[in-house]
Amino acid sequence: MTGGSEGVRHSAEYYADPRPPVALFGRGGQPDRFMLALEGLAARLEPLTSRWRPGHPPPESAGDLTVRVAAVEHPAPDVAALTLVPAGPGTVLPPWQPGHHVDVVLGGGVVRQYSLTGDPADRSGYRIAVRRIEGGAGSGLVHGLAAGDTVGLRGPRNAFPFSRADRYLFVAGGIGITPVLPMVRAAHAAGREFRFVYTGRDRESMPFRDELPEGADVFVRPDDEYGIPDADELLTGFTPGTAVYVCGPAPLINALRRRIPEGTPFFSERFSPSPVVDGRRFEVRLGRSGPVLTVPEDESALDVVRRVRPETAYSCRQGFCGTCRVGLLAGVPDHRDRPTGGSPRGGEFALCVSRAEEGERIVLDL
Ligand code: FES
Repeated sequence: MTGGSEGVRHSAEYYADPRPPVALFGRGGQPDRFMLALEGLAARLEPLTSRWRPGHPPPESAGDLTVRVAAVEHPAPDVAALTLVPAGPGTVLPPWQPGHHVDVVLGGGVVRQYSLTGDPADRSGYRIAVRRIEGGAGSGLVHGLAAGDTVGLRGPRNAFPFSRADRYLFVAGGIGITPVLPMVRAAHAAGREFRFVYTGRDRESMPFRDELPEGADVFVRPDDEYGIPDADELLTGFTPGTAVYVCGPAPLINALRRRIPEGTPFFSERFSPSPVVDGRRFEVRLGRSGPVLTVPEDESALDVVRRVRPETAYSCRQGFCGTCRVGLLAGVPDHRDRPTGGSPRGGEFALCVSRAEEGERIVLDL
């Protein structure tokens, strides 16, 4: 998310919408037993595979898995697509579904989330794709990887659930195609009705155009040919009941969210952390006798803490990975995280999103 600022970035590092999914299987829809079974299996496997615990940043090279870079391709000039295969014993990687991402442990304390964008049926390897961002630590490290290098992985996890619907509208902006591509292919393979609008700066900058299903309702829409899209145009042909999946820059997501009818199943994944909503000024104390810092209405505790403790670990900055969670020693928190692994918060506080009431003081085990 996908990281950083690196934020309003244009890379496959992604940020999932911090709000709970509107409805996992669509409003009024019936749960898909096959997908439920996959979710259940993944949930049972996770405790068996996870060595990492929330609030305790992993060692630099650690991950649940170690994978080797088997190939590096460039589907667009500034995009690196990496094929990652098991580096140790075993020939298959854990199962995943469209919308899943992995945490890539890049060393130096840098952990970033990237969507899986290959074929879920091929468990011999994962594919991720990352757009290089000027000054982006995560994308810079990924672009420095070469065949034969190893990295740590955690996951896969699902913060962008692909659910059963009778009809879909998929919208991707640039590198936002990474989680959407497997969804489009799955919908096509299942014979679902769908439309996919793929936007980008120009054709050359838009990766994986050659992997889109032929004969489907797919509209590749570069800005230099069609102009900047607006929500009405992107919603051409939209009918009530259509499930909307969008991944791209925040303005694209916000425009669509504002324009769709109330009750539409809407799922999004964005390139940057959401702004603080309904924030109040509160305080954090670092340790029982450490400095007291004021967290303004429009900033996260993570941003404030990192000014004095720049080594403080974080990753998604949207409350789902657990990397920034630290021990909570005192105070009444307003928990706003939604850990995808289902780990309990216990006495912990997610610095990136959690807050407190006006004037409250939160004491952190930092
Ligand atoms: S950085 Fe991921 S939960 Fe805070």
